[in-house]
Amino acid sequence: MTTFRKVLSIHTGQPASDGAGVKLTRVFGGPGVEQFDPFLMLDEFGSDQPDDYIAGFPPHPHRGFETVTYMLEGRMRHEDHMGNVGLLQGGGVQWMTAARGIIHSEMPEQEQGVMRGFQLWLNLPGKNKLMDASYQDIQPEHIPRLTTANGIEVVVIAGQFDDGQMQQAGAVQRPDTEPQYFDLHLPAGASISPRLPDGHRALLYVYEGEVAIGGCPQTVAASRLVRLGEDGELRIESAAGARVLLIAGKPLHEPIVQYGPFVMNSREEIEQALRDFRDDRLTA
Ligand code: FE2
Repeated sequence: MTTFRKVLSIHTGQPASDGAGVKLTRVFGGPGVEQFDPFLMLDEFGSDQPDDYIAGFPPHPHRGFETVTYMLEGRMRHEDHMGNVGLLQGGGVQWMTAARGIIHSEMPEQEQGVMRGFQLWLNLPGKNKLMDASYQDIQPEHIPRLTTANGIEVVVIAGQFDDGQMQQAGAVQRPDTEPQYFDLHLPAGASISPRLPDGHRALLYVYEGEVAIGGCPQTVAASRLVRLGEDGELRIESAAGARVLLIAGKPLHEPIVQYGPFVMNSREEIEQALRDFRDDRLTA
């Protein structure tokens, strides 16, 4: 008999505003974030109203974690203190390891049309929080995609996709947290059973349509995040079609102390980050 990963909880995103006034949905983040370890936050943004996104994210700092921006539609320009300039566009990913410190801006490179995507925050282990910052832009053509025999399109952003029939390494591999990040497009009536490493925290975010999850009697509607148990099988099916993010990672089990864009292991380290930022030494 199949043992499915348990559905531990289902979360609904909350409307929020960030940067200079960008409207978004905070799927999770803030108090109680330990239950999502090693992830710290997931934001969804999506609008065809320029007023919702045009203000962008002017220069701001980060320390102690990684940010992963996955664009579905639109164009966003990144600039940082290291001199990196990158254009992030539909289907592309920006993977930024803030570590010791980064100061960057993320500004729309469009005045109209749709801007749509996600930003995920991934924690770093304490031993890596003060390493040098790094950054990579991954263009859409460099992100592996596959289509399963039953027509499910899979975008393999990070980790190793394996459904028992097809295997595909993602565009990014990271040590310690071993993040798995897949975007799954399920046509009506299709099902899929992706294998995830035992012990990984697994999250499923439905951003279009509705899915059923093996072992769970209720269906999961759009804009809901499912937090799954750390072992067992996962089966996702959709009667009418759906698009979902499947995200998993190895928990760090370290203390999380967050103050805005700084995420460290202790209050002392946060106070040090604030002093470093004030003294212009965050990135030194
Ligand atoms: Fe940022």
